[in-house]
Order: sequence, then structure tokens, then C-alpha cells
Amino acid sequence: MAPLSLALLLFGWLLPGAAGTELNNRPIIGIVAQEVTDKEFFPFGATYIADSYVKFLESAGSRVVPIRLNLPEEEYRKLFKSINGVLFPGGSVDLQVSSFSRTTRIFYKLAVEASSSGHYFPIWGTCMGFQILTALTAGADLLSATAAENISLPLNLTDEVASSRMFHHAPPDLLRVLSQERVTANFHHFGLTPETFRANKKLSEFYRVLSTNRDTNGVEFISTIEARNHPIYGVQWHPEVNRFQWRSDMSYPHSANAIWTSQYFADFFVNEARKSQNHFLSEEEENAALIYNWTPTYTANISGYEQAYFF
Ligand SMILES: *[C@@H]1O[C@H](CO)[C@@H](O)[C@H](O)[C@H]1NC(C)=O
Ligand SMILES: *[C@@H]1O[C@H](CO)[C@@H](O)[C@H](O)[C@H]1NC(C)=O
Ligand SMILES: *[C@@H]1O[C@H](CO)[C@@H](O)[C@H](O)[C@H]1NC(C)=O
Repeated sequence: MAPLSLALLLFGWLLPGAAGTELNNRPIIGIVAQEVTDKEFFPFGATYIADSYVKFLESAGSRVVPIRLNLPEEEYRKLFKSINGVLFPGGSVDLQVSSFSRTTRIFYKLAVEASSSGHYFPIWGTCMGFQILTALTAGADLLSATAAENISLPLNLTDEVASSRMFHHAPPDLLRVLSQERVTANFHHFGLTPETFRANKKLSEFYRVLSTNRDTNGVEFISTIEARNHPIYGVQWHPEVNRFQWRSDMSYPHSANAIWTSQYFADFFVNEARKSQNHFLSEEEENAALIYNWTPTYTANISGYEQAYFF
């Protein structure tokens, strides 16, 4: 391999801020709350975070801070400087006009600014979180209808996987599992087609596509992305359900390899957060922000989530 292409390849893994920095082994990741839209949840509160996302991050050695909606931008800026990454969860709110979209837009902008000036700040988007990432980057909602509700699929990995950050440490056996076994759970009615992606310069210059899938009608949609020059990652599927959601009439993969898959992506993202040195100004402030201050509500009999935090 020519020295130049090796240098380019290395640059692909080592984003600014990542190299030579000591790791932060007490990472704290924010999860953005969303408006309650399901009537079963109305009695409990106006906004919520499903517990499976919390456990997903905790399982890899991160603590979690809820990012509540409708706070002044100033408070989000302060919180941004206190935490080491954010997760945009799945769910069902409007990508353009919801409070969820406002809050994710603020964090997305701050994260891109930070990593452009050498400060590592990773973002993970799952399902709706993936979709909002594409909407934030494109400045428009470019999704089209896909029929992928309650189906688990193997990923159709692209050639970009080999030089990606997301799969850089993936054992070959995991790549085999991902590409052959039904370990990625899909629950979505919209998706981003490869054609739309390629036709949109903002998207195709910002992200690379690491996997695609086909819905039940054979329509192809993008299922895994990572930003080229920022630690921003998105999956249209749900890695957290494999370990933390159990409704028996849902297609949640629970095989040993499905559990491994889920743990791999949690470990990957929390390791990204370890590259951020942000911290709260005091231990008191940190303790007051952590999700341990809230008690989750039992929701397994009214939703696919075992528990949820209401705010
Ligand atoms: C897998 O993705 C490639 C493009 O990366 C596409 O040409 C092919 O049709 C896809 N296969 C399936 C089964 O979706
Ligand atoms: C979801 O998919 C699983 C596995 O295919 C199936 O057993 C179950 O009935 C489906 N649930 C619904 C609500 O369609
Ligand atoms: C769900 O379970 C909770 C806790 O056991 C119970 O209080 C509630 O009435 C149940 N809701 C429904 C709709 O069954």
C-alpha cells in the first residue's frame, strides 16, 4: 500500500482530538428525551426516555444524563460541555418541528463545531435518531416510505466497512454474524434510500454508508452510516433491543450472537465517548444531573419498553 493511502486510511480512524489523548474512563453520555405521542404513555408525563437506551450505554461502562426538552439553549450549551457524547434514540416524533428536533439540532451543531476544532464529541443515532441525523445534515427530511416494521435482518455490509472506524476493531466472526444472521431489528416505516443519499451532496459528502437492507417490498434503505470527518454514527436498526426488550410478540433477536452484536456497538460508542475530556464543574452538579435521580416506570404491559423514564 502506498504511504499516502495508508496516511489517508489512518486519518479515517483517528479524528482530530483522538490521537495521543488520555482516555476518560468515567464517561457520561446524554440521551435526548422525546415528546410522548403514544396515548398509553399520556398518564405518566409529557416526555420520556426508554430504559433500553439507558441500559445499552450503562452496559459498556458509561453513566447517563437525561437531556430534557424545552430547556433554554444556554442550558444545553452548558450540559454539552459537561458530558462526553449524546445518543439520539428511536421513537416517533416529527423530525422538523418537535422539541426533540430542536434539542437534537442544538447538540448536533455543537458537536460538529467541537470536532471541527479538535474536541472529540461523539453522537449516536438509533432509528429515529439515525433519521434525524440525516435530516440535520441535509437540512431537510429526505425519508421515503419503507415497510420494515418488526423484522430482523442481516446487514448488507458495504466495501466501506473495511476502512470504517465503526468496524475497525470488529472481529471477522462478528462481521460474519452481522452479514449472515438476523441480528438487527427493524421497526420503521420510513427510510433513506441509497438513491436519495447519492443525489444529496450534503449527505454523501458528510457520511459514508456502511450497510444497506431491503424492506419487505424489496425497497433498499441505508441501515448504517458514519460521518467521514466527525465521530457521528447512525443505525436505522435497534442494537439495544437485543439485550433490553423482551415483548414476546416482537421480533427482538436474543440469540448469543445477537447479544454479542448489541454489546459490540455499545462498547464501540462508549469507547468513542472515552475520548472526550468534558466534565461537570463539580461532583455535586454531576450527581444531580445523572439519571439515577429518576425512577423508571414499569411499561412492559403498555409498550415494547420494559421501563421508561418520564419527565
Ligand atoms: C447489497 O448492497 C449492494 C450495494 O452495496 C446492492 O447492489 C445489492 O443489491 C444489495 N443486496 C441486497 C440483497 O440488498
Ligand atoms: C413480529 O415478528 C415476530 C417474528 O416474525 C412475529 O412472531 C410476531 O407475531 C410479529 N408481531 C407483530 C405484532 O406483528
Ligand atoms: C400495567 O402494570 C402496572 C404495574 O403492574 C399496573 O399498575 C397497570 O394497571 C397496568 N396497566 C395496564 C393497562 O394493564
